[in-house]
Amino acid sequence: MRQPIHRHGAVLGIVLFLAFSSLHAQTPPASAVASAHPLATRAGVEILDAGGNAFDAAIAVTAALAVVEPTGSGLGGGGFWLLHRSRDAHDVMIDGRERAPLAATRDMYLDDKGEVVPRLSVDGPLAAAIPGTAAALDHLANAYGRLPLATSLAPAIRLAGEGFPVDEHYLRMARFRLEALRQSPAAAAIFLQDNEVPQTGHVIRQPDLARTLEAIATRGAAGFYQGPVARRLVAGVREAGGIWTLEDLQQYRVVEREPITGAYRGMKIVSAAPPSSGGIALLTMLNILANYELEALPTATRKHLIVEAMRRAYRDRAEYLGDPDFVDIPVTRLIHPYYGAGLSQSIRLDRATPSRSLPGFTIVSAGADTTHFSILDSEGNRVAATLSINFPFGAAFVPPGSGVLLNDEMDDFSAKPGTPNVYGLVGAASNAIAPGKRPLSSMSPTFVEAPGRGVAILGTPGGSRIITMVLLGILDFAQGNGPRSWVATGRFHHQYLPDTITYEPGALDPDEIATLKRLGHRLKARGRPYGNMQAILWDQGKNRVAAASDPRGNGLATVIPARPAQ
Ligand code: DON
Repeated sequence: MRQPIHRHGAVLGIVLFLAFSSLHAQTPPASAVASAHPLATRAGVEILDAGGNAFDAAIAVTAALAVVEPTGSGLGGGGFWLLHRSRDAHDVMIDGRERAPLAATRDMYLDDKGEVVPRLSVDGPLAAAIPGTAAALDHLANAYGRLPLATSLAPAIRLAGEGFPVDEHYLRMARFRLEALRQSPAAAAIFLQDNEVPQTGHVIRQPDLARTLEAIATRGAAGFYQGPVARRLVAGVREAGGIWTLEDLQQYRVVEREPITGAYRGMKIVSAAPPSSGGIALLTMLNILANYELEALPTATRKHLIVEAMRRAYRDRAEYLGDPDFVDIPVTRLIHPYYGAGLSQSIRLDRATPSRSLPGFTIVSAGADTTHFSILDSEGNRVAATLSINFPFGAAFVPPGSGVLLNDEMDDFSAKPGTPNVYGLVGAASNAIAPGKRPLSSMSPTFVEAPGRGVAILGTPGGSRIITMVLLGILDFAQGNGPRSWVATGRFHHQYLPDTITYEPGALDPDEIATLKRLGHRLKARGRPYGNMQAILWDQGKNRVAAASDPRGNGLATVIPARPAQ
């Protein structure tokens, strides 16, 4: 059956694209910071108050999160910092994603029978890729910031020395990773209390991390990738069976990448480029959905179509995506409106498409922690950054004396094509391990520019579900809602395989569930809500700035009215 309501948004999109430049004419009446931890948000506000721009504030928030939210991101990890510089409307993505060590091999997590060795890519130093965060901090300061790096790092250094009280999220994750943390004496000494999950209110002080941050403050990236810190990192990793070398650290560079851009119903979407799958998958889904009048449809049909769009985009993700420095990705085709229109032709309104009936069947990787923050400054500069050490507490390994908790981002590679990783997910050859390669990510820091309405800055952690969360946020914005609604909206997800819609408690009502089942979908309610979206809207129509932190998390969104010009 062909869908009765089918329209092409492409031409309209192109015309409206031309109107986008006018968006940059004014400046916002306020700045805003939204992050997953109140102390990190305050660090960002402190730096804005000190005369820093959004990029300086991003350094402060990144470094503060590395201290106070060690479950999600840190100097031992990496991420994507999506930037918009208002003066010349320059959009860029700082790719600070981790790289596989030079001694990494395609089959390094397989035993001699060719089977994946459980946990090897998750716990301990062999799971850790070469971190990118310190290089990104340095690059942000040198290329985009206004303040010295040392100034922007000061709040984090203070927090590392003074300590922070653990919150519920921390305790839950420490319980979850207790055994792995105990394997690393340096990690246990910092993150546990007498080798146990800490008591509520316990204060975590990190003097070693403070010293490592100070080395970066003094020497920039070289303070981390060379000299005593680098030697400590490599020695600690190798003593515990890892494969890092000093050359790995010395070679690490961030890459500036052109973001993925496209249009949806007159809005401009700017999102993460490969090695994130986020921007491409988002645009494939939006280009499919642009062929329908979603709002005119009953909600169950609307959700059915959204799920079918998710299914198709995640199939392509598994098939084509990986590190663009290693694999050729047909980006232009995948984000072309005609491609979305073509995919929409295979969607039936009266029936779910079994995933196995689509060509190919490989899947994607996910994680269980990570973090996102959004910043807007009073000049209109923006940052959307999603940062990760992958699993909660990363590899749960700290090289002694460094204070740096290492990532287990190697698990985002497919250890073996077709074999699931810890999250029950598998990948394809495009995402196989190779020396120096960046693992495929789902992190999707995103800007949406809607002429006449304003600019949205959003993103979230959540592994493979990140992209569908951002999609639902964008669709909610397209319906006229603001950030408080985007971050709260009920979440459902499909990722091609397993061929199941997962959803948060309450995200689908009983009628929708019944309809979706009747169409042939398999559904699985998740026990807990997921995601931790941090969002900002500069509403240019109303000349207002609003920000929101996901009610599922413990974050803080702050709006700071601009001071009148002096
Ligand atoms: O880069 C990625 O896609 C994953 N390492 C992200 C992990 C994640 O978001 C887990 N969050 N809850």
